[in-house]
Amino acid sequence: MKQLFFFMLIAGLIWACGETSTEKTNGTENTTAQTEVKEGPDGEKIYKQYCITCHGLYGDMGASGAFNLTTSALSLDERVLVITNGRNVMTPFKDLLSEEKIKAVAEYTLKLKK
Ligand code: HEC
Repeated sequence: MKQLFFFMLIAGLIWACGETSTEKTNGTENTTAQTEVKEGPDGEKIYKQYCITCHGLYGDMGASGAFNLTTSALSLDERVLVITNGRNVMTPFKDLLSEEKIKAVAEYTLKLKK
């Protein structure tokens, strides 16, 4: 009977220690989750979905008079404006894409420049 009591006491102590250490690990897991960086929208993916029909995969296809993006001299802000409001044959994207996505795809078109 005495032995069983001791066993229970030790088991209880081990259980108590185990409990505190799991709490500690949970605490560190939470901090790493909070510092995780959120990624913005993928400009390349958006370009391939909405723009290649006229501009082509490399920006130089020029279907229906689309401007050659590899030679475009427009700044990022000017590109955002053209994509948002459209220009002549090019359709506006303000109803299709969020501001954040338009900026991401505009940034991607800058990379097509040769
Ligand atoms: C319906 C065909 C079409 C689609 C789809 C299209 N464009 Fe255009 N884009 C054009 C045409 C045509 C022009 C030239 C407009 C003009 O002559 O004023 C143009 C011009 C541009 C310009 C201005 C270039 C310059 O230097 O003046 C940018 C930037 C541009 N497009 C980006 C995009 C992006 C990014 C997408 C996808 C979100 C896209 N376009 C989708 C047809 C299209």
